[in-house]
Amino acid sequence: MARCGPFLGRRRGYDAVTAVVFAFLLCLIVPSFRLPRLCFLAFAEDGSGRRDLRRVILRDEATARLNVLGKISDAEDHLERTFMSPASLRAGNQIHEWMEDAGMRTWNDGMGNVHGRVDGRNPSGKALLIGSHLDTVVDAGIFDGSLGLISAISALKLLNVTGKSSGLERPVEVIAFSDEEGIRFQSTFLGSAAIAGILPPSILNFADRSGATVRDVLMETVGDTSEKNLRELKYDPNSVWGYVEVHIEQGPVLEWRGLPLGIVSGIAGQTRLRVTVRGSQGHAGTVPMSMRQDPMPAAAELIVLLESLCKHPVDFLSFDEYCKDSTIEVLANSLVCTVGEISSWPSASNVIPGRVSFTIDIRAMEDKGREAVIYELSSRMYKTCDRRSVICTIERKHDANAVKCDPELSTRLKLAAQTAMKEMNGGMDQQEVPVLMSGAGHDAMAMSHLTKVGMIFVRCRGGVSHSPEEHVLDDDVWAAGLATLTFLESQIGSPFCVHTM
Ligand SMILES: *[C@@H]1O[C@H](CO)[C@@H](O)[C@H](O)[C@H]1NC(C)=O
Repeated sequence: MARCGPFLGRRRGYDAVTAVVFAFLLCLIVPSFRLPRLCFLAFAEDGSGRRDLRRVILRDEATARLNVLGKISDAEDHLERTFMSPASLRAGNQIHEWMEDAGMRTWNDGMGNVHGRVDGRNPSGKALLIGSHLDTVVDAGIFDGSLGLISAISALKLLNVTGKSSGLERPVEVIAFSDEEGIRFQSTFLGSAAIAGILPPSILNFADRSGATVRDVLMETVGDTSEKNLRELKYDPNSVWGYVEVHIEQGPVLEWRGLPLGIVSGIAGQTRLRVTVRGSQGHAGTVPMSMRQDPMPAAAELIVLLESLCKHPVDFLSFDEYCKDSTIEVLANSLVCTVGEISSWPSASNVIPGRVSFTIDIRAMEDKGREAVIYELSSRMYKTCDRRSVICTIERKHDANAVKCDPELSTRLKLAAQTAMKEMNGGMDQQEVPVLMSGAGHDAMAMSHLTKVGMIFVRCRGGVSHSPEEHVLDDDVWAAGLATLTFLESQIGSPFCVHTM
């Protein structure tokens, strides 16, 4: 009976009411001569009833909430929420409300992050953090970032309404990070980097397009912009157990494998280069082919060289103690290289260009392997430039090392995902949950400086993201919530049950 009490006593709010009404009707149509309260007890205990409650909260309500959040925008005709914008603040308030509805204690911090916490049985124990970001790109989809937040809040709500959250072995804290996309200040992870303690104070002077600095924005919203405030946002590593993030895959692999969930082995390291090729500018009609120093075909050859090297690194890299067999194998499975931007000077159809420059984006799971690729690429590029009598410079613009997810945490998440998929499939065993690399950056990257991290990827249609075309099936939203719930349930100690985790 105690199990039914909290459920009947849910606070107001139509979403909770819907769940109660649905559950009640479901309960009553089951032929039973028992009293309604017993019926509720049966509801809590009965496998199919539990499954339906899970479906209502983790699928129906979660997708409805994603749609609500997806409408909170600074623009009228598309979704756009940048760091601390009016829509971001409204979205934060909405998240607050849902966190409270899930039985969480909530607060905002000095960098605009929204926190909700459930203490469990050991309020002073090391906390499990679950998070993702609430900001978006311009003309965004509604799942990027939001899905991780909603699935965590829904899972905790389910634990609350079933009376289990007080049994959690350690505190669980959901954090909605204020900035991951870095649209407004061209600097990613303002929210998670502050909590991880890796945000440099110089960030306060970064300005947006209108000239407003991070300091100005914080002054207006949280009212404290001191470096001390910034330092105090950092969490004590000893107060944290680990960090988990659920996020859309933003790639096509899960769809191709036909599975809703995957586990992330790590987030690729990245290097950005700018290559400039200088030749001799001239008239397109008068300079004979044999006498040209044309940087354009040279650039074309360099780009094709990049593609070959990144498609078949094994053919290009030599094996020595610096670049081991295993390094090359990891490389071959994860290396991706892109030329995304190219420009020429003076860029006219009747002029042999004097200068061509292009960007290179290289990502891989292996930092040493990535270095080896850059080394090999550079030396081959310079040789090509010499042969073509053009002058090349290669500048290194940005570097970020790869982040490995924690193997033990990942094993637990994998088990949770497997269990969730099995439950959704009526208890039938499923294909094994795939393990993927993340080519895109995530808050988990910043959080890895604070604690061990693990991530679950959720299938999205066509692998498309950063676009209004971004889409996740309702059932896959359910799978994400169920996996989070299953993972949390593995952290519940019960005096009556023996635990396997
Ligand atoms: C749900 O959360 C509320 C708010 O923290 C709390 O008062 C209530 O006891 C929780 N329900 C259960 C069953 O733990």
